[in-house]
Amino acid sequence: MNDDVRRHAPATLRNRAPILAILEQVLPATGHLLEVASGSGEHAVFLASHLGGWQWQPSDPDADARASIAAWTQAEGVPNIAPPLAINALDPTSWPSGPFDAMLCVNMIHIAPWEATLGLFAAAGRLLPTGAPLILYGPYKRGGQHTADSNAAFDADLRARDPRWGVRDLETVADLAATHGFGAPAIHEMPANNLTVIFTRQ
Ligand SMILES: C[S@@+](CC[C@H](N)C(=O)[O-])C[C@H]1O[C@@H](n2cnc3c(N)ncnc32)[C@H](O)[C@@H]1O
Repeated sequence: MNDDVRRHAPATLRNRAPILAILEQVLPATGHLLEVASGSGEHAVFLASHLGGWQWQPSDPDADARASIAAWTQAEGVPNIAPPLAINALDPTSWPSGPFDAMLCVNMIHIAPWEATLGLFAAAGRLLPTGAPLILYGPYKRGGQHTADSNAAFDADLRARDPRWGVRDLETVADLAATHGFGAPAIHEMPANNLTVIFTRQ
């Protein structure tokens, strides 16, 4: 019997080093980071093990994902990762009280209803003090247009799976961010036509 509950998300192996490089640029040496939608937990163990001054709080609404996060944490022996929380961006009561020094959300806002993005920014506005970043990673449309054929195909696939899902428009997300007290985003081009988008609490 295989009782290893660790999940494997192959994309994490491709994007984790570029994401780490951005975090190393923008984060101070120490702090407390809340990761939303941690999924398998592979980002958490990789990123937290390279950012040893940070206390890492992973989360996911999916119980199997939380089991995977805990199993990866134990298997890799990463000391600065807390047990995962059951945060659902759609449920305002599921968030911790904070504050946090940074929030990270990788590949969630296009694979969830738009209301999850609304919930994410509402929470970030509450949980992040002035100067703290909300760091998002994923594909975006710019000015209503896809930036690559592969993103257009991905968007069509997402919408076929669930009409509430879909690649978001960066300007729409930035407008939402402004309503929660965030400045204009710093935008970093990433591999495979993804972006890292960093909103700083004003
Ligand atoms: C494509 S996976 C990305 C996981 C991980 N961040 C990664 O990059 O491998 C999307 C994740 O979003 C989570 N998710 C979906 N809806 C959510 C919501 N409303 N609030 C928080 N997380 C959500 C899912 O459980 C899943 O783990």
